[in-house]
Amino acid sequence: MAEVTVTEHLLFHQKQTPHATGKFTGLLYDLILSGKTISRRINKAGLLDILGGTGEVNVQGENVQKLDDIANRIMIYRMERSGAICAMSSEEEASLIRVGPEFPRGDYILIFDPLDGSSNIDVNVNVGTIFSIHRRPEGRSGEVTLDEVLQPGRNQVAAGYILYGPSTMLVLSTGQGVHGFTLDPGVGEFLLSHPDMTIPEQGKIYSVNEGYSRYWDAATEEAVDWFHHCETKDGGAYSARYVGSLVADFHRTLIYGGIYMYPADTRKPKGKLRLMCEASPLAFLAEQAGGKASNGRERILDIYPDKLHCRTPLFIGSKKDVETVENIFARHNKQA
Ligand code: AHG
Ligand code: MN
Ligand code: MN
Repeated sequence: MAEVTVTEHLLFHQKQTPHATGKFTGLLYDLILSGKTISRRINKAGLLDILGGTGEVNVQGENVQKLDDIANRIMIYRMERSGAICAMSSEEEASLIRVGPEFPRGDYILIFDPLDGSSNIDVNVNVGTIFSIHRRPEGRSGEVTLDEVLQPGRNQVAAGYILYGPSTMLVLSTGQGVHGFTLDPGVGEFLLSHPDMTIPEQGKIYSVNEGYSRYWDAATEEAVDWFHHCETKDGGAYSARYVGSLVADFHRTLIYGGIYMYPADTRKPKGKLRLMCEASPLAFLAEQAGGKASNGRERILDIYPDKLHCRTPLFIGSKKDVETVENIFARHNKQA
């Protein structure tokens, strides 16, 4: 079998992508290295004293797991040395991280969730690192300001995730489709295993935390209920799946199709998921793979973030399944 490494793939695409300079490829290479380092730590999690919480609560009001903290440090350490970045934002850090003058700087802005699904770590269920890359707006120099970072997701130049599962996978888009790479731990290289990933137009799986249904509004209730009663293309029932790690639930949706939903509810009126480090990068991948991502009313990639850690409801996956939800929300909006 002809094995293509991620480095070969990136160099090949660099020739065809106008923004893909050597610096950009270097940035991705450092991201991949961070992912491999995190993967190694996660693989050993049960053997070392790194399971459980740190006892701290992060900016999101959530308990910080030791591995959240480890993954966050690995990312910041490696990426601020990449020479391609001027600023970063991490789910675990309250403020923008500006790359200091002691390091070479570039024009890229990196936004990441160092460890997604970390409440699943202690039970050995898949977790991942999600990343989003923007370019600094044209003509800006000097200290990066917050408004430069608060860009809509459609401006992303690349997005992806590293999934730490039975095997470690990198799923990446630089705006030319979505490609998946699997880590061969023996040689320490990601090899192209899933070229040109596409989401089926309609799926057979719906994914939502139904335990919260008592907090939903009528539109959300109707949307989820639609998947209880509708038929798949083959005339069967939709199946339910919910891992509770967004990155794992999205990965399944990308491959099998269907829909993942994290709606707003009375306890979380803006939803739970973070627009910039979770919803937007996955929306970029979904659209690149022929799927859709919406907050129920609006395309995720068109939303302007008003702050670094703003949240959004998310409906993402197969085009037809997401449109079904949007139609139900539109009807409820008209009635209101
Ligand atoms: P994180 O671990 O980065 O804080 O993200 C957790 C998120 C996401 O991964 C997952 O889909 C969702 O939380 C699950 O939330 P519920 O437990 O409310 O369903
Ligand atoms: Mn997350
Ligand atoms: Mn996280």
